[in-house]
Amino acid sequence: MTTENFIASSSLALITSGSTTWKTPSNIALVKYWGKRDPQLPENPSISFTLNNCHTITTLSFEKKENLASDFEFKIVFEGEEKPSFQPKIQKFFERIVAYVPFIKAYKFVISSENSFPHSSGIASSASGMSAISMCLMQLEKMLDPSITEEYFYKKASFLARLGSGSACRSIKGELVVWGAHKDIEGSSDLFGVPFSSEVAPIFKNYQDTVLLVDKGEKQVSSTVGHDLMHGHPYAKNRFAQAVDNISKMKNVLEKGAVKEFIELVESEALTLHAMMMTSQPYFILMKPNTLEIIQKIWSYRAANNSNICFTLDAGANVHILYPKVEKEAIHRFIEEELSVYCQNAHYIHDEVGEGAQEIK
Ligand code: PMV
Repeated sequence: MTTENFIASSSLALITSGSTTWKTPSNIALVKYWGKRDPQLPENPSISFTLNNCHTITTLSFEKKENLASDFEFKIVFEGEEKPSFQPKIQKFFERIVAYVPFIKAYKFVISSENSFPHSSGIASSASGMSAISMCLMQLEKMLDPSITEEYFYKKASFLARLGSGSACRSIKGELVVWGAHKDIEGSSDLFGVPFSSEVAPIFKNYQDTVLLVDKGEKQVSSTVGHDLMHGHPYAKNRFAQAVDNISKMKNVLEKGAVKEFIELVESEALTLHAMMMTSQPYFILMKPNTLEIIQKIWSYRAANNSNICFTLDAGANVHILYPKVEKEAIHRFIEEELSVYCQNAHYIHDEVGEGAQEIK
């Protein structure tokens, strides 16, 4: 599919008003996306687990405008309060997507959202936030054009979400989602995320993720700045090639249930992401001392208990702990007793793999 396939007709018959509500999750990358080119295209393919408990619920209310020629009209309400500070981000998002959803110019919107995870917890809300708005906009497109297929509906939702925030395109559909064209992943594309379609070994079903909130502050480096640092980075070319290779390896690992190799790949990807930031100009250390304490503890626990626990990181200090469901009880105890002291206000969130966006009726 090409970009042109996602252009909605500009002559759809408009309905007067209505609303739609969608719940979409966050996701955690196993092979990381870091580095992009215009318009929000990834320099390398990535794969993520879709989460379940960390999600955004968005209601999009729409009303046909009197003056169709005027600019976008929308109001943003976040957790019950009007948020003019979110306006520029959504304005930019609408500018990027208007060519594909021209009907957005014809409506006045109220975009009302809430997150399941606490505000400024350091958990990236852009993936769940942007995917939720995208699902709502696609629902509106479907109301205007009921002939669109389910496949198109989800692909275009992911395509729109990508234009809001790259990794958001992996928060639409499927337990494991690949974004970025890759020879081993059928149907994969730089334009949208696709559900990982191979048979996944039982050990990787219902995988668990506990997010340890080490640092709930503002991100030290925004992901826009971070992606930009890959331009001219001395190791960028090798890193992009390595990620391509790691997708092939990960595919194999997921099919075979090779959990030891999974651990090596996932942890190496996390540390590589941070290594890229430590070696960029300017350079950054996004881990905190407690991030390293937690990693050491995880390694000791794994060795002592013959466990399959492992960690991954986003572009920040928080740690995602990944483990098979059979180990859930023991690892919850380990987290409470030995790791919670390294979290801000002893705060962590238990999550697990989920299926993606859901309409709330
Ligand atoms: O979607 P963005 O632009 O916020 O980038 C996210 C990048 C990482 O979370 C660090 C990695 C990934 O693949 O999700």
